[in-house]
Formats: sequence, structure tokens, C-alpha cells
Amino acid sequence: MAQMLYEGKAKKVYATENPDEYLVFYKDDATAFNGVKRGTILNKGVLNNKISAFFFDLLGKNGIPHHFVRLVSDREMLVKKLTILQIEVVVRNIAAGSLAKRIGWEEGRKLPQPVVELYYKNDDLGDPLINEYHARAMGLADDNQLKAIQELGLKINAILGAYLKEKKLELIDFKLEFGLHNGQLLLGDEISPDTCRFWDSETGQKLDKDRFRRDLGDVEDAYKEVLYRLTGEKL
Ligand code: C5P
Repeated sequence: MAQMLYEGKAKKVYATENPDEYLVFYKDDATAFNGVKRGTILNKGVLNNKISAFFFDLLGKNGIPHHFVRLVSDREMLVKKLTILQIEVVVRNIAAGSLAKRIGWEEGRKLPQPVVELYYKNDDLGDPLINEYHARAMGLADDNQLKAIQELGLKINAILGAYLKEKKLELIDFKLEFGLHNGQLLLGDEISPDTCRFWDSETGQKLDKDRFRRDLGDVEDAYKEVLYRLTGEKL
């Protein structure tokens, strides 16, 4: 059995025979509100593995450097080994979640332009919102990296937003993580209904982890619907 290097809330990471690559296993475990709410979403690991693979492929074809190498099984993907920056980049098109609360906008109000936010990736502190000055002062990233991750966030937003619109899905917001691989900055982690908000363009129905966070029901079906709209695959 390969050595497990790390177990997170939704994934496990294993060493492989190739020192440059990791194996990521996607779990069904779901957490929200920094681990306060816990549960499982049936088949989430399979769905998020497939959905992430699809998005990484799409982004790669559009010139975004990422860590995804290939799918290994229903729940596993091979990725390039990254040293993850301790920053989460959130890009938003429509006010929802913590932004709606913070600035007092009703959920669903369109932002006149995309908003990029940085969060300090630290579970003990509940991933607090920070700005570029904090990130530099804390040594989380240098100037070039900060510029790059924010520019990449906006580019990724444009690529995903346009693609999803064709599939009648509205990209409300999403979270990205980046890391270094032999000095190269790559997009890492996952892109899935766990890390994005997707609303049906016509009905406004939520097709993402908010169904779990807010006990809206039909969580698995929502994730399945996202996979189906993206790839045509029915799980
Ligand atoms: O909660 P909030 O509104 O700040 O979330 C913004 C976006 O970032 C949502 O799509 C959410 O799923 C994602 N997110 C995440 N991991 C976190 C915090 C937020 O994937 N730790």
C-alpha cells in the first residue's frame, strides 16, 4: 500500500513511485463551516474526481498550467507534486455566501465586475480574509506570485464562466489553490461543486455544496447533474 502523506476533509494524498507525482483519492466525506458540520454525500468522491478532471482538462486546453496528470480510477487522480501556497483565491461574479453577509448585499445580486479575494489557508483561524499586504508581510507569497494567482483567477473565471453558460449553469463564485512544482506555479487542489457555486441559469436552483451546508436536500443529485451537464455522463 502506498504511503499516505496527508488526509484532508475531502481527499487523501498518497506518495507514488514517481517522486514528482502524488495520487489523490476523493472521499465522500463532506464538511462545512470549518469542520463544524460533518456528513457524507453518496458518490461525492467519484463525482468530484470526474468533475475536477474535466475542469483541469478544459483549463489546460485554454493555457492554464495545472497539476492534473490523469485519472487513475473512479476516485483517484494522478497529480504533479506541489508545494501549496497557504492562500485560497476566491473569485466571485454574484454576491453569495460570506460576501453577501460581509457587505450586506442580498444573495444573487450581480457584481458589476468580478471580485478577487485572498484567504489565509489556516483551519485553526477559520481561513480569515486577508489582502496582498498581509500575504506579503506573512511571507505567504511574493509579488510575482500574488500578481500571477490573481490574474490566473480572473482568466479561469472567464474560461469556466463561458463554458458553464453554454451548459445553462451560472458560475457564482469559486475557490482556487495554487502551488509550486519545480519552481513553476500551477493550479492545484480540485474544482468541483465542493469548491464552486453553480446555479441553474433558468431556475436559479443551487447545484453545489450549499445544498449540504443549508440542508436543502438532493445533494447527490445536484452533483450528478453538474457532471451530466459538463460531460454527458450519467452516474
Ligand atoms: O463561503 P464563501 O462565500 O466565502 O465561499 C466562496 C466560494 O469559495 C464558494 O464557492 C465556496 O464553495 C468556496 N470555498 C471553498 N473552500 C473554503 C471556502 C470557500 O471551496 N474553505
